[in-house]
Amino acid sequence: MYDELIREAQAALERAYAPYSGYRVGAAILCGGKVYAGANVENASYGLSMCAERSAVFAAISAGAPRSIEAVAIAVAIGRPSPCGACRQVLREFGQDFPVFLVGADGKVNETSLARLLPDSFGPDSLPREEKI
Ligand code: THU
Repeated sequence: MYDELIREAQAALERAYAPYSGYRVGAAILCGGKVYAGANVENASYGLSMCAERSAVFAAISAGAPRSIEAVAIAVAIGRPSPCGACRQVLREFGQDFPVFLVGADGKVNETSLARLLPDSFGPDSLPREEKI
């Protein structure tokens, strides 16, 4: 069921721009039944680099996808992936819990979930706002 999502994450890592770390990452997000992909994009001014997961979230939202993540796949070219803390929080913005598929360089898939990656999370519902833009 999530095969396409996983394949899209693996395809995205081939498009990564990672000349400084050499660590290529691809992410794919399922929103409204459609898949949105992203890769890490580094910069000569290192701190401006962007992770694959956030690239994918921003691609989805920018494309007008429903603001609700159904599932995520993250693929790496070396070892096994683990999304950074910043990306866990950005994913949390669009859902409290959904499946996350971690795809190693060897193609092995480990299924976890956002709630496991980011327990007791802070999110939009933590703020006293009724309307969201
Ligand atoms: N990176 C990601 O794209 N996702 C993560 O979850 C971890 C780190 C990228 C950022 C940088 O381009 C490279 O991997 C090394 O940190």
